[in-house]
Amino acid sequence: TPIQRQTSKQRFVSEFSRCLFDFVIQLLPTTEELTIKEDVRKLLERLIRTIEPESRLLSFGSTANGFSLRNSDMDLCCLIDSEERLSASDLVTMLGDLLERETKFHVKPLPHARIPIVKLSLEPSPGLPYGIACDIGFENRLALENTRLLMCYAMIDPPRVRTMVLFLKVWCKRRKINSPYKGTLSSYGYVLLVIFFLVHVKNPPVLPNLQQMPALRPISPEETHLNGHNIWFFDDIRLLRQRWQSSNTESVAELLVDFFRYYSRDFNYNNGVVSIRAGLLKKDGKGWQSDSDRGTARERNRLCIEDPFEVDFNVSRCVTRDGLYTVRGELMRASRILASRPERAIVALAQLCE
Ligand code: CTP
Ligand code: MG
Repeated sequence: TPIQRQTSKQRFVSEFSRCLFDFVIQLLPTTEELTIKEDVRKLLERLIRTIEPESRLLSFGSTANGFSLRNSDMDLCCLIDSEERLSASDLVTMLGDLLERETKFHVKPLPHARIPIVKLSLEPSPGLPYGIACDIGFENRLALENTRLLMCYAMIDPPRVRTMVLFLKVWCKRRKINSPYKGTLSSYGYVLLVIFFLVHVKNPPVLPNLQQMPALRPISPEETHLNGHNIWFFDDIRLLRQRWQSSNTESVAELLVDFFRYYSRDFNYNNGVVSIRAGLLKKDGKGWQSDSDRGTARERNRLCIEDPFEVDFNVSRCVTRDGLYTVRGELMRASRILASRPERAIVALAQLCE
């Protein structure tokens, strides 16, 4: 009967929510890991200052935005506060030499990459069973700002937002659809898909749109713009939590079921652009047609996710036709598993991340 169906659904989602929390908690980095990473950051900062005394080394990406899994990579960004400074590629070369001499890291400088970086890694050891992998870039201030934006979204409703994002990060890694180099989507892309869903798809929304909230005081364009991009967003999360409350009461399991349904069935991949800043946009409006109908091999805009600040930048431009096909296949698979509501929620979770 419909009532029996309803209660079996409720039983499933409440058990599945509990499973998700338990699962995600085990995957968080330990305090020991966080301490080691912070020590590494300080050590590297001290070394870089022997080359550029006015520099600071800051964390961005998952180690800084609240969406970090155990043993995740470190993303570091070097900011230099002086006027005359070395070019990024010279710095990468010099820093590479210095780190090679002074540390035990494996060092790989990439001075001629589109974005010059130094790649570092440390072999696993008893205290660090997975070693460390770390990228150091330069002057990537927009990445620091988008990290702060994601961190604010994570802080508004950690039980639902962080659980969902962390679960999806595990899921996409286990299902092998998290490799921009191989034509699938970056972690950053997946996080934007989740935030878009919680801000713009869910009704009532689970999250407010931080980029469209009124500012508390007048703000000058110098304060809000960085390299010509508007980077303003409402970042006083303590105040926000006092003043704004979502009227959406769905559990994390219900949201996840709906997330998979939305991106496997409802989202229009041919024309839609995911924008956490402006809601659902159209490819033609952004000049982001995928060109497939003109017989060219250009793959750039198969999947379109607008960067929150660099609005001409498609975060998912590396996603190829085959990559998108695989990702959508995985979204459908997940949706199917959840719709079948296995007897035990833990079984669903294991199947999802097989
Ligand atoms: N980033 C970006 N533009 C991209 C990809 C990444 O600005 N197209 C920046 C973002 O600041 C992002 C950071 O690089 O937070 C790290 O990206 P990524 O490694 O994809 O995300 P993480 O959250 O660090 O995921 P993981 O734990 O898998 O490393
Ligand atoms: Mg990272």
